[in-house]
Parts: sequence; structure tokens; C-alpha cells
Amino acid sequence: MTTSRDRQASGAALAEASVIDAIAAEAGTPAYVYNAGVLRSAYRRLDAAFGAVPHAIHYAMKANSALAIVRLVRSLGSGADANSMGEVDVALRCGLHPDEIVFTGVGKRGDELERAVALGLLAINVESPGELDRLARIAADRGTVARVALRVNPDIDAQSHPHISTGLKSNKFGVPIDAAPALFREIAARPSLRAVGIHVHIGSQITSLDPLQRAAEAVVALARDLRGDGLAIEHLDFGGGVGIAYDGGTGPDAAEYVRRIVEAAGHCGLKLVIEPGRVLVGPAGVLLTRVVDVKHLPSAKRFVVLDAGMTELMRPALYGAFHRIEPVHERAGAPLACDVVGPICESTDTFARDRVLPPLEVGDLVVIRDCGAYSAVMGSNYLRRPLPPEVLMDGSEWRVIRRRQTLDDMLALESD
Ligand code: LLP
Repeated sequence: MTTSRDRQASGAALAEASVIDAIAAEAGTPAYVYNAGVLRSAYRRLDAAFGAVPHAIHYAMKANSALAIVRLVRSLGSGADANSMGEVDVALRCGLHPDEIVFTGVGKRGDELERAVALGLLAINVESPGELDRLARIAADRGTVARVALRVNPDIDAQSHPHISTGLKSNKFGVPIDAAPALFREIAARPSLRAVGIHVHIGSQITSLDPLQRAAEAVVALARDLRGDGLAIEHLDFGGGVGIAYDGGTGPDAAEYVRRIVEAAGHCGLKLVIEPGRVLVGPAGVLLTRVVDVKHLPSAKRFVVLDAGMTELMRPALYGAFHRIEPVHERAGAPLACDVVGPICESTDTFARDRVLPPLEVGDLVVIRDCGAYSAVMGSNYLRRPLPPEVLMDGSEWRVIRRRQTLDDMLALESD
């Protein structure tokens, strides 16, 4: 069983309890709190694992696109994987150059393709023959050449949650890998297109490195075939997907992941690109929240109600995702099984069922761990709840990087 000392040690990995208290007092709850140091070391570990191999890390902005986070990642040398024009624009505002941004997405609109071409992004990751054709026409009309990477679907099971698996034939993503050679020949035949890469992304929160390795091998084999056909490209983009240990155990080793990719690539002479999101920012954040009610009637379960709900963190409601939940100050007393829930009028607004936690009382501060990725970005205004603030800690300093939304902010978009 986890002792109170272990608990404090794991909590201290992100922040001292006194700092968390100060943040809660000043920024209020619920609030997201990120630790810059944790993010930096995750980035450096991944980067260093490539050694001297030519490579680029394109941070998957969808995981957390707060300006301050994107700027921080950029300061470490990262490029960006943007999944919408909104993300492209945020990347540009954070000082990234168009040639440091790849643009992915299964349904890019015409105006998005126009803009991507006009900007001259490093690569537009194309998902279908139709999109390839639309892109070729747009670039031709502008008298320019679009840089294209083809997203291939290798039909590999990522063995992750089905909602976040993308590499099977039955998924909407990419083109079947066996269709790729013909499409690369088509790219070569169209003067307004230039093939720059092969892109693959088989899913997220992948905890076995084997499927990621097999996807990399499939891409490298395709690159060899293309070279055999006299078709040149510049990079191999292996996407993201490396999972983290939400239970606090040992997750996949990100450095080992890089080693496997490098090994799969052999000495292919192409730049190796990855698009990590979760592994960089996930463990660097917590959702800081406060207990608003403890409900325990003899004939029912014990419910601990928090001031955060699925509007702030929807991963448990959407994927049944597990997140560790810890009191900031642990009370003495026997741990108790409880359902930890939010205040929203839906039963899926539940963070944990039958979780054994130290005693909790109204007013207690609680952190939900590993909320740096796919958490704040997936928030909503359901029930007219304002988006929570985001706080970035760096060493002993911290600052609000997004203030709490107000009702006026929300209503500013409306007319009655
Ligand atoms: N590249 C592409 C093309 C992607 O679609 C994604 C994630 C990534 C990279 C980054 O993957 P990561 O390294 O973070 O696994 N909302 C879900 C996750 C959705 C992931 C979507 N794509 C969640 O909360 O688990």
C-alpha cells in the first residue's frame, strides 16, 4: 500500500503542497497547474535519445496549445504538429516559422489548404487521394509548389483504447499503405506538388512499443520501395502515440521508443520526425480542485463531489480514463472507498469509482494527476461553466498563463 510518505513524494514531483495552497488561494479552483521543469526534462530525454541522428520533434499541439506551453516547447527546439488552422496560427504567434510546422487533419477545408499552401508549411500531411487533388489544384492556381507528406494507414492495432486508435483499416485516417506507391507516383507527376515525407500515426496512449515499432518498420520499407522507384523524399514522420503511466507505475520508456525508431530506420539517410504530445506534457500537469460535498448515507455509496467536472476534464467520461487522485494535505484516518464525481448533471461526470482514498472533507484540496495533455484543451462551457485558469510553475515561481473565463467573456460572442 502507498504510504503517506510516498504520496507526498509523488505529489512533490510537481509542486510543494504550500505552493499548491498559494495557487488555489490566488487563482481559485478548479485550475490547471503545469510544471515547466517536468516538461523540459521529458523533452530533453526524448531529444537526447536520437543522439547524432538527424531528427526533428514536432510537438503535437492538440495535447496542450496554451501559448505559454507552446512557447516553452519551442524554446527547447521543437517544431509543431498542428491539427487545425487555429493551431497553425497559435504556433506562428509563438514564434514558430512555417517551415517548422506540419499540418495534419482528416478533413482539411479548402480555405485551410489555401492558407497552408500560402504559408509554405514544412509539410501538409495529406490523408486521401481527393485531398491530394484539391491541394494540387490550389497550389497550381497560386503558381506554387505544395510540400506534401502522405499519411499512410499501416493496418496495425495500437492496442490502445479504440477511441484513440487510428492505425487500422477500419479507421478513417490516412490511405492504405499499399496504395501509397501509386499516390507518390501521382505526386511526382504533378508539378504543383512536391513529396517531402511519409507520415504515420497509429494512435495515442500506446503502452506497448511493439506496434509503434512495426508501424515505423512499415514506413521505412515503403521509403525503400519509393527510392527503388526513383522517388525522393526528405523525412519520415512517425507521429506520436507513446503512452504514460497514469497509474504511477512504469510506463513505456520514451528513450527506448526513439531507439527502436532509429533502429527501424537503419541508415536510410532521411530525417526522422516524431510528433509527441502526451509524453511531453501529460505528467507535467495536474487539475487542482476542491471538495464541495461529501455524501454518505448508510444505504448508498460514498460520493466525494469536486468543483471540477467533465467540463474541465472529460477524459474519464469519454474514455473511462484512469487518473490518480490525491489530497494535497492528507488527513489521518483509514482510507475509504468512494466515487469521486463532478458537479455536472450527468452520471458519466465521474472521475473514479470505488477509489480508496484517505478521508476527505468539504474544502479539502485535491489534485487529479497527469492532466497536462488532452485535459484543459478538451474543456467546454457546458452549463455555462467558465473555462478554468491555467498556471505555469517554473522552479519556485508561478504565474497564471490563462485567466479564468468570465461570463462576460462567454457572452461576448452572443446577441439576444
Ligand atoms: N500526431 C497525430 C497525427 C495525432 O493525431 C496525435 C494525437 C499526435 C501526433 C499526438 O499523440 P500523443 O503523442 O499525444 O499520443 N484526446 C485523447 C487523445 C487523442 C490523440 C489524438 N491524436 C486522450 O485524451 O487520450
